[in-house]
Amino acid sequence: MIILGGTPSKELARRVAEQMGERWVDVEVKRFPDGEKYVRIVGEVRGESSVVVQSMYHTPDEYLVEFLLIADNLKSLGAKSVVAVFPYMAYARQDERFKPGEAISFMTVAKLVRGVGVDRVLTIDSHRHRKLLVDEAFAIPVEDLTAMRLLAGFVLREAELERPVVVGPDREAKYWARLAAESIGAEYDVLEKKRLSAEEVEVRAVSVAVQGRDVLIADDIISTGGTIVEAVKALRRQGVRKVAVACTHPVLTQGALERIKAVGVEVVVGTDTIPGPISLVSVASVISEALRR
Ligand code: R5P
Repeated sequence: MIILGGTPSKELARRVAEQMGERWVDVEVKRFPDGEKYVRIVGEVRGESSVVVQSMYHTPDEYLVEFLLIADNLKSLGAKSVVAVFPYMAYARQDERFKPGEAISFMTVAKLVRGVGVDRVLTIDSHRHRKLLVDEAFAIPVEDLTAMRLLAGFVLREAELERPVVVGPDREAKYWARLAAESIGAEYDVLEKKRLSAEEVEVRAVSVAVQGRDVLIADDIISTGGTIVEAVKALRRQGVRKVAVACTHPVLTQGALERIKAVGVEVVVGTDTIPGPISLVSVASVISEALRR
């Protein structure tokens, strides 16, 4: 087996190769003066089962094209198979036509990935509200892995949380909250908006009494930080003690981290699906385990 990574995930690919004791193959990527990408695989790939690790953060269009060039090239150079690992899968949120005329971008990306001969896809904590659609779109085996268990254990120790409740900031985050809670043997809950009157909306944890408790907020993505900030404010109104945050994909658009710190959260941890200031947990072991299976 050989492991490769494009510009966004070279380091992660190298870690996966190291953990698996497999060969890491370098990919040279340059830009032509007109802005086009140049890709060259620097090593022998003929007859090999290959794995391309390619996260799609910050400049997703660029990294998607890079991936297509690498994968197609592997096949034309005689690689036996190509497994695509998308630690952060861009376009996953536009998986429906929410307004008339909108592109269902996720479908288009899936078609392109399939079109270059990819045999299997692995994602990590991908937007998973319409799993059937995901399988249908790719029409090749797709597995969504999770970093939530690793993250929960890490944040529990880092923030020294005592008997925490894991809270998903909205209903959609229930899946992440459950995974995190189960791995550390904690209770979990989600925040819900309740309309009290025409003017008043209350956000609160619905089933677990959180007053006086430590809380671990678990979500898949922090982008602007707005969801987490609202969740922290709501939990404080309910009288929680310490709050720490775990998210798989720290997109962190401008000022997100500062906004979260400003509401008194000291420990905010993400993974290296998107390298950055809070990417303290590596998903290399999550990927290696899945590839070994
Ligand atoms: C939404 O479906 C996701 O699970 C996240 O809650 C959301 O993307 C976070 O975005 P933001 O940080 O901008 O509130």
